[in-house]
Amino acid sequence: MDPDLSPFRPGQPADIELFVGRSQQIERVTQLVRASAANRFQIAFLTGDRGIGKTSLASFARYLVERDQTAATSHVMLGGVDSLDGFVQRTLEQLIKDNSDRPWYQNILDIFGSRIQSVGLFGVSINLQFTPAEMDEVTNAFPEALRTIQSRLDDDRPSLFVVLDDINALAELPEFANWLKSTVDAIGIHRTPTKVTLLLVGLEETRRSLISLQPSLARVFDVIDLSLWTQDECERFFTTYFNSVNGSIEPAALQFMAEMTGGLPVVAHEIGDAVYRATAEYPVKLADATAGLISAAEILGHKMLRPQIVEALQSERYREILRMLPTGPLTRRFRRSELIDRLPPESVRSVDAFLRRMRALGAIAQDPDRGRGAYVFTNPAYDVYFWQQSYSVRNGLRSSR
Ligand SMILES: Nc1ncnc2c1ncn2[C@@H]1O[C@H](COP(=O)(O)OP(=O)(O)O)[C@@H](O)[C@H]1O
Ligand SMILES: [Mg+2]
Repeated sequence: MDPDLSPFRPGQPADIELFVGRSQQIERVTQLVRASAANRFQIAFLTGDRGIGKTSLASFARYLVERDQTAATSHVMLGGVDSLDGFVQRTLEQLIKDNSDRPWYQNILDIFGSRIQSVGLFGVSINLQFTPAEMDEVTNAFPEALRTIQSRLDDDRPSLFVVLDDINALAELPEFANWLKSTVDAIGIHRTPTKVTLLLVGLEETRRSLISLQPSLARVFDVIDLSLWTQDECERFFTTYFNSVNGSIEPAALQFMAEMTGGLPVVAHEIGDAVYRATAEYPVKLADATAGLISAAEILGHKMLRPQIVEALQSERYREILRMLPTGPLTRRFRRSELIDRLPPESVRSVDAFLRRMRALGAIAQDPDRGRGAYVFTNPAYDVYFWQQSYSVRNGLRSSR
C-alpha cells in the first residue's frame, strides 16, 4: 500500500479520531477537570513506560475538555527543561500560546504587560522576558499567576487545565520538588478557590524521584497509571487503523500482529506501518504480517535499542540463545535456569556471556523481586524486540542485514 497514505503514526501522539481504549483513565482526567471547575484544585500524575501513550492520552483528554468547554487548556512539553526558571518561563509562554485564538487571549496578555517581548505573527511565538528579580517573584507567585489567568477566562470556561508533560529531567531537581510542594501548599491555604488542574506526566521513576526529594508529595498526587494494552486492545487497535483506510485483516494475521505488539502502543504503530507497507491487497494475510514484522523489528531495534545491543544480537552464538529465550510479550522476565535447561550442556558458558553482555549494555537487569538468576528487561520494548528476534530465528526468518 502507498506509504504516504498510512494511518499509522510511529512516534507521534495518536490522532484524535483514531485514539484507542484507555476510557477509564480518560474518565479520571476529565473528572478531575470537572471537579476543579467546582472550586477544587487538582493535581495528578500520569505515569507509564516510554511509548505507552502518556502524551497521547493527555492530548486526547485536553481535546475533550476543550470540546466540552470545561476549561481553558495548555499542554506544555518540558523535555530537556532542567531548571526551575526554565520551567516557569516555558509553562507561562505555552499557556499564552495555546490560548492565542481564544476570546480571553488579550486578558491573559494584559497580565504580563511589558514582559512580553515578542508576539510573533498570529501570536504563535511568544517570548517572556523577566529580570532575575522578576523571575524569582514570578516563581514564588506562580499559584497567583494561575489564579489570575483563570479569573480572566470567559464565564463559560470555569477552570484551567494544564498538562506538564515530560518532566523527567526536572523531577531530579530538589528545587523543583520543593517548589512543587510549596506551590501545592500555597494553593491549599488560599482563601480564593483555585480552579486549576495540573496533570504532571512522566515515568514512574520520575514520580519516585520527586517523592524521594520531597516525601510529603506522596500524598499530594492522584496517580493515573498506564499499563500495557491487552491482546484484545491490540487487536482492536489494528482493526480500527486498517478499517480507517478501508482495509481488512485475516484473523490469523490479526492475532499474530497483536501478539507481537506485546501491548506497547509505540510498537503497535511500528508494526502496523510496516505491515501496511508490506501488503499489496486486502485482506492483510499472515505472510504480509510476517514480512511487516521483520522490517518493524529492524526499525524498532534501531530506534529503541543501543546499536551495540542490535549488533550483539546478530552473532550466531547469541542467535542460538535467542532461539531458546523462554520469554514472550507481557512477561518481561525470565530465569537463567530456563535458558540452561533448553540448551545443550556445552552452551552454558555462552549463556553466561550473553547475560553478562546484555546486562552491561543495559538491556536486562537482575530482577530484585525474584532473587538470583532472575532477569527482567529494563524496558517493555526490549522484551518485545527480543521476542520478535527470537521468533524470527525459530522460524528461519533472517533479517536483511
Ligand atoms: N490510545 C492510543 N491509540 C492509538 N495510538 C496510541 C495510543 N496511545 C499511544 N499511541 C501511539 O503510541 C506511540 C507512543 O505514544 P506517546 O503518547 O508518545 O507515548 P509516551 O508519551 O508515553 O511516550 C505514538 O506513536 C502514539 O501515536
Ligand atoms: Mg510522551
